[in-house]
Amino acid sequence: MSAPSVLVLGATGRTGGALVDQLVDAHREGEVTLIAAVRRPEAAAAFTERGIETRHVDLDSAERHGLAPIVAALRDVRRVFLASGYDVRMLSQAKAAIDAARLAGVDHLVHLGVHAEPDTTVVHYGWHQLVEAHLARSGLGHTNLHPTAFMQNLLMPVMSDPESAVLTHYIGDAPTSWVDADDIAAVAATILRSPEEHDGRSYGLGTEVATIKGVAAILTELTGRTWRHAAREPGEFLAAVTAAGADPVYMDCVRNVFERIRDGSLPEAAATFDTVERITKRPATSLRTFLDRHREHFTA
Ligand SMILES: NC(=O)c1ccc[n+]([C@@H]2O[C@H](COP(=O)([O-])OP(=O)(O)OC[C@H]3O[C@@H](n4cnc5c(N)ncnc54)[C@H](OP(=O)(O)O)[C@@H]3O)[C@@H](O)[C@H]2O)c1
Repeated sequence: MSAPSVLVLGATGRTGGALVDQLVDAHREGEVTLIAAVRRPEAAAAFTERGIETRHVDLDSAERHGLAPIVAALRDVRRVFLASGYDVRMLSQAKAAIDAARLAGVDHLVHLGVHAEPDTTVVHYGWHQLVEAHLARSGLGHTNLHPTAFMQNLLMPVMSDPESAVLTHYIGDAPTSWVDADDIAAVAATILRSPEEHDGRSYGLGTEVATIKGVAAILTELTGRTWRHAAREPGEFLAAVTAAGADPVYMDCVRNVFERIRDGSLPEAAATFDTVERITKRPATSLRTFLDRHREHFTA
């Protein structure tokens, strides 16, 4: 019997890229056949060089060209990982991916969503829940991953300035939950190697609660320099990221999240779970370990 093929949508992104890294050994050992979906043709070479097949998938193309090209790209694929980007088009992109997966005869789809209360009024959290409702009624085997804030956000220029040793933040002194995107990928890799036992399940992912002041204290210890933290208005975040080209519709939702975390009306943002330990059978990455691993960024 041939190894089940796993196609990663979002393979050039943060979580999908980490997932490819974590499945590549299983691919080389013949346990799964890994396929990276690439939207930009120039992104294919990096995977090909590692012995990973690529297939061209632009989920936005469904609007003009229908599902047929995406269904064709999913030929012989048994399992799919779906990460969409920070864009309101995540709704149509995820719908196209789910519908095409069903038409192509995929067995199981793992969706990267977000942790939220079931009756959340945060707009883009609701989008993820609508996607998952569509997935649930698609008939596909499925698992949803529900992370809190990625530790990788701390590496963004709008959050950390290594030159001046300042962490910029938009949530006052509210504590929030953090998770390493590599741990999300590790959970996804475990599920995609053996999806049956995770069918119909949703897993919260958030490892550790910390304030930005707490993060600055860890950085001070690790780097030997005093890290300060500077509180800014959520609107300043929105202006900075949209000026850099981000989708203003999605990012306005993030601005709202910052305001609600700051005013204490989003307690779910501080939730933690033991999912990483339970699913991967190894400890989750702590903030200290993550920051130490990225010490080079913070000492530059
Ligand atoms: N950051 C957080 O704190 C956080 C917390 C909870 C949940 N999340 C969720 O995590 C998800 C983002 O994960 P991430 O950070 O791993 O994403 P990412 O690094 O931004 O990667 C997005 C991926 O989607 C691909 N993509 C974009 N448009 C596409 C299209 N039209 N067709 C096919 N592929 C397309 C991108 O390809 P290109 O390289 O070609 O652009 C890229 O590979 C979002 O759904 C977000 O809501 C994030």
